[in-house]
Amino acid sequence: MCGIVGYIGKRDCADVLMDGLEKLEYRGYDSAGIAVFENNLIKTVKTRGKLACMKEKLETEGKPQGFCGIGHTRWATHGEPSDINSHPHSNGRVTIVHNGIIENYAELKTFLKEKGYAFISQTDSEVVACLLDYYYSERNPLRAITEVVKELRGSFALGILFKDFPDRVYAVRKASPLIVGVGDSEYFIASDIPAFLKYTKNYVLLEDDEIVCMEENGASFFDVHGLEIKKTVQTAEWDVEQAQKQGFPHFMLKEIHEQPKVVEKTLKSIVKNGVPDFSEIGFTDEFMRGINRIFVVACGTAMHAGIIARYAIENLARVPVTVETASEFRYMNPIVDKNDLVILVSQSGETADTKAGLELAKEMGAKTLAVVNVKYSAIARAADMCINTLAGPEIAVASTKAYTVQIAVLYLIAFRLAFARGKINEDELKKLTADIEKAPDAIAAILKKEDECKFIASKLVNVEKLFFIGRGFDYALSLEGSLKLKEITYIHSEAYAAGELKHGTISLIEDGNPVITLATQEDVLPKTISNMEEVKARGATIIAITRKETQFAENTVDMRFDIDNLLPDALTPLATVCALQLIAYYTSVLRGIDPDKPRNLAKSVTTE
Ligand code: M6R
Repeated sequence: MCGIVGYIGKRDCADVLMDGLEKLEYRGYDSAGIAVFENNLIKTVKTRGKLACMKEKLETEGKPQGFCGIGHTRWATHGEPSDINSHPHSNGRVTIVHNGIIENYAELKTFLKEKGYAFISQTDSEVVACLLDYYYSERNPLRAITEVVKELRGSFALGILFKDFPDRVYAVRKASPLIVGVGDSEYFIASDIPAFLKYTKNYVLLEDDEIVCMEENGASFFDVHGLEIKKTVQTAEWDVEQAQKQGFPHFMLKEIHEQPKVVEKTLKSIVKNGVPDFSEIGFTDEFMRGINRIFVVACGTAMHAGIIARYAIENLARVPVTVETASEFRYMNPIVDKNDLVILVSQSGETADTKAGLELAKEMGAKTLAVVNVKYSAIARAADMCINTLAGPEIAVASTKAYTVQIAVLYLIAFRLAFARGKINEDELKKLTADIEKAPDAIAAILKKEDECKFIASKLVNVEKLFFIGRGFDYALSLEGSLKLKEITYIHSEAYAAGELKHGTISLIEDGNPVITLATQEDVLPKTISNMEEVKARGATIIAITRKETQFAENTVDMRFDIDNLLPDALTPLATVCALQLIAYYTSVLRGIDPDKPRNLAKSVTTE
């Protein structure tokens, strides 16, 4: 939920930390701070507000001068966004930054108060700083950390400075991401690789309870007992340009425009000899034949990708699919067994509920398959099998390209399942694969009509509420279109199966309410058109997203956006979604909102 960074080396530490925080701001942006050793003393600067406020404060107060320090960008969980609640937190001897949630912080706080500690913030994180101080003795930081790790419940990634060691940064993690960047006589810690990509592509993954001690001349790694361990240095495939705006005004727009390329790349990574082939990860035809049921467990946009998967898999492969919101799945005592496949879909691979769903599925004996964009993430590593989507870093809070590659992969799974289970023959499999390979062109065709989306957006700027309706794949996509719009425009929006609206919700339709109608599915088109006419008759303004040749009765449709005929109906969501993303993006910008950092949200949701 928050982003943490740390650095030791020869560069200006404050600059490196601020640079890293800028790359991690997607993880939280309600306050920020850094702590740097300056002449052997820790100097902390922190403030409420986005990183821009922090930059201003550094300019007015002066930047700490030094080569070793830690930094934080916050998404508040305990205590409102305020200067005091901002990280780093310190008690004098120990200064920390924390990402995660300490579940037993209240009892630890009571214990520490009894021992004479006083607290100034409302955060769970300050408790960690005090607990480290409590266990710190005989100038032994490692022992203090190992003791604290044993006491903490919940999730944490910690960057730690000990006042007595101005030439070291310590860090430890459990159930929150933390990566160690390995440069040339310089070391970094970060919640995500883009924070240090500019300086090095080499990194070490910390596992749960592992500790790193970074000094200028080396990094040492320890287990929870304080015993030194060896770690492997890996090299990131992402490069620095991918994590920059490259001339686009926002990451979201850049990421929308990357879709033809990343969909092509993802498809190419799976399609071999004209057909999808997952055998490399053990997802073989034989395995597919043995599956009784499929569950897709995910959150938000990734869960919406699961709903597309349900339509595709059930239609083609005739395997029953249940799509569950991960936060429900984990507590609903689901009926899952060893013959089931549980697919976890996640861009970040670190969403707490999805990860818990994965653990539950494994406990219940099901096989697990992760569809994840971040290769080194917890979900990618913990699942039995993993398909890595190749969207590259997604920085904007609103997920766009990650969704499109997720559905591309899920379609390929549907195709191969159908083939493995004898529902289609090889020629049909090849035809479907050739069809989906047209998706990059179909997406590019939509992106060429960006101005039309902008025009539709200009008509939505001042509305208070709107609806999305559709049937079949269009319904599944409506859910995503509606989420995208509401999360970055703050306009109340609801998505409905077109036939369901009249069972209650139609009473909300008033004169002029926009209803975005997705009407791309031939088999249900007359029904969708009837539903559209029902709302039109009640005063709605109809915006139809449809195929070029679709005819509507005169005066039914107020605006239309046409999808080219490059994909068969079942695959149109791959293209249509881009129009919905652009409409949401431009509505947000025209309303004066920063679509990359909508209020109250953060990119990765590592809390329940
Ligand atoms: O990283 P994940 O894909 O697991 O994240 C899931 C959701 O938090 C995410 O899709 C969220 O709904 C986005 N803000 C949607 O744009």
